[in-house]
Amino acid sequence: MEKPQLEKLCYSTRQLVAEVGSFIKKQVGKVDENSIETKSKNSLVSYVDKTAEQRLVSGLQARLDGAAFLTEEETIVASEGTYQWIIDPLDGTTNFLHELPIFSISIALRFENQIIMGIVYEVNKEECFYAYRGGGAWLNDQKISVSDNTVFEDGLIATGFPYYDFEHMDAYFGVLRNFVERTRGIRRLGSAAVDLAYVACGRFDGYFEYSLNAWDVAAGIILVEEAGGKVSDFYGGNNYLFGKNIVVGTKTTHETMLKTIGQHFVKA
Ligand code: IPD
Ligand code: CA
Ligand code: CA
Repeated sequence: MEKPQLEKLCYSTRQLVAEVGSFIKKQVGKVDENSIETKSKNSLVSYVDKTAEQRLVSGLQARLDGAAFLTEEETIVASEGTYQWIIDPLDGTTNFLHELPIFSISIALRFENQIIMGIVYEVNKEECFYAYRGGGAWLNDQKISVSDNTVFEDGLIATGFPYYDFEHMDAYFGVLRNFVERTRGIRRLGSAAVDLAYVACGRFDGYFEYSLNAWDVAAGIILVEEAGGKVSDFYGGNNYLFGKNIVVGTKTTHETMLKTIGQHFVKA
C-alpha cells in the first residue's frame, strides 16, 4: 500500500475508532455483575468488549477488503494474510468495569509481518494516538515524540503488575525495586496500549511488562517507534509482538532498563 493510501485508511479508521469509543463510554457504569464473564484468572469480559469488537471488525472489513484478523475476543476466526488487523477492542477492561478512567481501543495493521499502522484511542480523554510507517506519530493532529530526558533518575516508568502468571515474580519485583529506588516513580495504569502511547508522547520515559498478548502491544509498538523510541523484548531481541514481554523507552531509558532487566530475567 502506498503512503497516501495508508494515510487515508488511517484517517478513516480513526473515525471508526472514535465511534466505537463513544459506544464504550456510554456503557460506563451500566454493566451489571451478572453480565461479566471470567475468561481465565483475573481476565474479565462483558458484552461491551464483544460488541465493540464486532463493530470494529465490520467497519474494518468495509475499509480494507480481504484482510485477515487477530482479535482478543475472537468474534471472528483468527486468520493470517498479507494484511492483518490486530485488535484489542477494550484494553483496560478491569478499569472500565471498576469505573476507573483509563481504557482504550487498540488497532494495528500488519503487512507481511511488519506493523504498518497503529491507533490507540484513550476513550475518556478522547485522545487518539496514531502512527503509520514512515509518517511519524500523532496525538489528535499534533506530532508527538518520546521524551528528551536523558537522566534515568528524572524519568517516570510505567509497568503492568503480574496478575495471573506468577512464575517470574522474584525477577519482576527485583527489577521493580531497582526502578522504584532509581526513578521519579512507577505507574500502573491498567492499559498496556495507553502505557505505550504515553511513552510515545513523552509522558512516560519507559514501560515494561510480561505476559502480554499481541493485541495489547501491536499498535503501541509502531507509535513508540515512529515517535523515535526504542522497542525490544526483555532480552534485547525483536520477539516483542508475540513473545509476551516488552520493554520500550527513549533510547537512553530503554538501554538502562534493559540492563537491569537482564540482571533479573534469564532467557529460557
Ligand atoms: C490488559 C491491560 C493491562 C495489562 C494486561 C492486559 P485487557 O488488557 O492492558 O494493563 O497489564 O496485561 O491483559 O485484558 O484489559 O484487554
Ligand atoms: Ca489488552
Ligand atoms: Ca481487551
